Amino acid sequence: MNNRPIGFFDSGLGGLTCIPHLMKALPEEKIIYFGDTARTPYGSKAVSTIKSFSIEIADFLVKQDVKMIVIACNTVSATSLEDLRHRFPQIPIIGIIEPAAVKTAAVSDNYNKIGIIGTKVTIKSEIYEKQIKKLNPEQKIFSAACPAFVPLIEEGIIDNDIMNMTIKYYLDDFINNNTIDTLVLGCTHYPLIRKNIEKIYPDLKIIDPSEIVIPTIVEQLELNNLIADVPNYENMFYASDLSENFMNMIDRIFENSGLKVKFKSFDL
Ligand code: DGL
Repeated sequence: MNNRPIGFFDSGLGGLTCIPHLMKALPEEKIIYFGDTARTPYGSKAVSTIKSFSIEIADFLVKQDVKMIVIACNTVSATSLEDLRHRFPQIPIIGIIEPAAVKTAAVSDNYNKIGIIGTKVTIKSEIYEKQIKKLNPEQKIFSAACPAFVPLIEEGIIDNDIMNMTIKYYLDDFINNNTIDTLVLGCTHYPLIRKNIEKIYPDLKIIDPSEIVIPTIVEQLELNNLIADVPNYENMFYASDLSENFMNMIDRIFENSGLKVKFKSFDL
């Protein structure tokens, strides 16, 4: 048993989409979240920049005495997971992509047409394709970078025509020309526009890595004897730029959850 917090991080507020799923599975766990809102988006930056930002954040979380780090960001998982594990060998570090790739391969067959959407860096890495094809080399996979989604979501531009037109701009031809039936939300910001996507493409099956990563977290906590057994009364949310949007989005994501949150701005 271990009552130290679990550290989650993302380039911004996207990784918050994992938290309600974790709270449902393990309500006693205490969470420390870091959103690098001052430097978001990561998905169009150089890999070397993303690596150095993620080391700074992991360093910060380790100093907060976390018992595990969850990289709640596909872009960082695609580029920096191995480096982080190498640098912080004393702590379990979970990436978000592998569990989602395993699940995608498990729930699809050769007749399915899988679409992966994500940031430029995640899509360029081809990490989803490589990991899914390791499990099923015949799987048909298509991918598309959607770089405008993250800035719009960070601005809170979600429930309106601007977002719906942007979704159609990126996805109409991609889905229709490739007859995609299964869509992987390969960026943790995208669950925030899941309802828009479902409304525009009602027949698509959606795979959400922000949710799929949870059983892996539970399994690793159990394996390392790190499950908390004392009720958690407070979670802590840090942002490098504590903007109004970040706090509004926390309200939106945790609405009705009864979660008690504390915010703090933290300059790395
Ligand atoms: N939420 C992130 C991801 O899952 C990063 C988005 C970005 O900063 O570009 O890839």
